[in-house]
Amino acid sequence: MEFKLVGKDVLHLKGGVLVVGVYKNQHLSPIAEVVNKAMSSLLKDFLRDIHFEAEAGETIFMPGHKEVKFKNIVVVGLGEKEKIQSDTIRKAASAGLKKAKKLKNKDVYFELLGEEILGKKSAQFLIEGMILGNYQFKKYKKPEKEEIEIEGVKVLGQKEHTKFIHLGKILAEATNFTREIVNEPGNVVKPMDLANISQKLAQEHGLVCEIYDKNRLEKEGMNGILAVGQGSEHPPCFIHLIYKGKKPKKKLVLIGKGITFDSGGLDLKPEKFMKTMKCDKSGACAVLGIMKAVAELKLNLEIHGLIPTAENMPGGSAFRPDDIIVFKNGKSVEIGNTDAEGRLILADALIYGSNLKPQVIVDIATLTGACMVALGHYTTGIFCNNRKLTTLLQNISQETGEKFWPLPLDEELKEEIKGTFSDIKNIGSRYGGAITAALFLKEFVGEDVKNWVHLDIAGPAFLERTWKYYAEGATGVPVRTIISWLQKGASIGTGT
Ligand code: BES
Ligand code: ZN
Ligand code: ZN
Repeated sequence: MEFKLVGKDVLHLKGGVLVVGVYKNQHLSPIAEVVNKAMSSLLKDFLRDIHFEAEAGETIFMPGHKEVKFKNIVVVGLGEKEKIQSDTIRKAASAGLKKAKKLKNKDVYFELLGEEILGKKSAQFLIEGMILGNYQFKKYKKPEKEEIEIEGVKVLGQKEHTKFIHLGKILAEATNFTREIVNEPGNVVKPMDLANISQKLAQEHGLVCEIYDKNRLEKEGMNGILAVGQGSEHPPCFIHLIYKGKKPKKKLVLIGKGITFDSGGLDLKPEKFMKTMKCDKSGACAVLGIMKAVAELKLNLEIHGLIPTAENMPGGSAFRPDDIIVFKNGKSVEIGNTDAEGRLILADALIYGSNLKPQVIVDIATLTGACMVALGHYTTGIFCNNRKLTTLLQNISQETGEKFWPLPLDEELKEEIKGTFSDIKNIGSRYGGAITAALFLKEFVGEDVKNWVHLDIAGPAFLERTWKYYAEGATGVPVRTIISWLQKGASIGTGT
């Protein structure tokens, strides 16, 4: 979607649909105020007559007027003025654009909703809301007859808004890029397909991309990835992407869980839980989206994107409960359950990533159902050995609308993953499953890695119903939060 700035002089503009905002209790936004005056208060009268509540994202339309030369005026609710947040703008932008589409007019103009309170940054939220709200996975579906596509939107803003529009566009498009790959089913995207997508991304964005195939994994002793992948017809692999800014000030590692389909393996999942398990590659796809944005923003960082990828299937050569895997850092792991496979492939990547000696490692994974039990559908669990960094990321997530909430790396639960015939095992008890999974990962983070962040996105990565501006399916969480953090210099919470 393209955006054009057309200035704020609404009465000298002319077009199809004009989208303006209204707060609760009929507080009009600045452009709505001008429009209302020009129409001799017709707009306000109309809103009063129909009892328009102005809940965030509520919409209504009315025809234009001889002084206001638009075919239709769409009014979008912004909720209570005092409670407005970045996500209010995203919701309103998404709803406003959907309404314009329903009116079947491609010539759309948007007021900078909420600017009078949130400032110029509101332009970024507006663009994000439009792009994220307009996304649907429709590659395999015939379009509905009367559906129209909106390719461009005119924004009532000036030059000073350009950089915020640019940033919003990069963030939201990277998120949709991630969503599109996650939404592809397991028969289309297999581990080698993730490798091909990575290579294409690298070519287009000047990244280095190295693929470790099965033979190479054997040579390197990446035995977690090999074990999880051995039951599938489609071989596993490991992807290493590198972005290097001009004079990078920091080296970071991002790791994404890339299980292209999680059947559970020999510990097969029941049908209710197997459905949607194409989403088990969401962490990997998030890393791809982040790498794309980082290259587009030309950030001054060195970033390594690591993707261990495999398909977890049962089969004659599948790994089994009781199997013992020895990892490259010398630790042995006994398999308690083949469905706890994510931590096994991440272990290889954490050892590999630690050897790169970065300042920070961030891993992103649809790791545990237990995290959903703890935090619900919409919240990412954050585990981190640095409190300031936890708070910083949580604060950023509040602004992006991607909710992070901290969970403890409670060492007392380490007892639960002690192995009988090995150093550790890959499952704990029924309780604290998200924590024992995180403690398992910690065993593979190198001693000299001072900052490690583990994000469990099992809940928010994939939605079975629409939420806010998201259609059902992949959300691309936590792409926008991580890019925003990187864009602000990837601080570890102390200004450094
Ligand atoms: N991929 C799942 C976790 C998951 C669950 C992601 C729901 C998204 C939505 C993971 O591999 C898994 O199966 N975890 C098991 C672990 C258990 C066997 C210790 C789980 O959470 O049930
Ligand atoms: Zn699993
Ligand atoms: Zn899984």
